[in-house]
Amino acid sequence: MQVIHRVAELRAALAGAENTAFVPTMGNLHRGHIALIEQARQAGRPVVASIFVNPLQFGAGEDFEHYPRTLAADCEQLAAAGTDIVFAPEPAEMYPEPQTYQVLPPLAGELCGAQRPGHFQGVATVVLKLFNMVRPRFAAFGKKDYQQLFILKGMVRQFNLPIEILEGETVRAADGLALSSRNGYLSAAERAEAPRLYATLRAIAAELAGGRRDFATLEAAAGAELTRHGWAVDYVAIRSQATLLAPQPGETALVALAAARLGGTRLIDNIEVGLP
Ligand code: PAJ
Repeated sequence: MQVIHRVAELRAALAGAENTAFVPTMGNLHRGHIALIEQARQAGRPVVASIFVNPLQFGAGEDFEHYPRTLAADCEQLAAAGTDIVFAPEPAEMYPEPQTYQVLPPLAGELCGAQRPGHFQGVATVVLKLFNMVRPRFAAFGKKDYQQLFILKGMVRQFNLPIEILEGETVRAADGLALSSRNGYLSAAERAEAPRLYATLRAIAAELAGGRRDFATLEAAAGAELTRHGWAVDYVAIRSQATLLAPQPGETALVALAAARLGGTRLIDNIEVGLP
């Protein structure tokens, strides 16, 4: 496995490659990331993973400075999973100019974007740059970051990028908590409480499957349940899978999404629901 820090070297290593399968990450890898590497390996070769903590997608007061940076351990996991190339640029290599062109995606101000202004702009911009550097045929993203996946699929479609997006199912701990680099910030007591986020979403899914259509009531009840257990709730929302907006009457492919904070740690999760 090659570890590359410069764009020019990356381009040289990938010259002539036509079936590249790419997994962008911010490092501090866990089984969720590795499942994406395995999915990418099924699709094409070489398999390229990027590790870059993207300053553009962190807001003021967020955890950019403290985001865990564990390159050596990440590379061990990536090598064991059959990765061919790791691209780990420094910020100055990614953003050499003081003024950065940015992509402003539709829905950038919805859901997570409402609490994190500029976040999805930063994500779309760095992923477009990475796509231009790696020029993959396939790129894998996790459903754990449902709105991110939705926005990036839209970017590929609307900018006619010749890339097939692979969607990875959310990998969870045995108690249901979605794996996340940010879980490492949780205290023992918070970690014990954290599975409630997914449990609350599962309860919404069960109510929807049972015929409930009073979305606002379900959202409010779920939010109140989390608040009662010490969470600061950013949102609980039932949306259309097709648009990520409020479901139209008769729509059956829905998704329930939530973001909430335990102490200083912001956790997100979601569950897809197909109505009968
Ligand atoms: P990061 O949080 O490192 O996640 C990298 C990829 O792993 C994303 O596609 C994310 O959805 C996926 N992922 C994270 N946890 C997962 C889990 N429990 N199960 C399945 N997939 C999971 O997302 C980012 O980095 C950045 O925003 C990035 C796209 C790299 C742009 O900077």
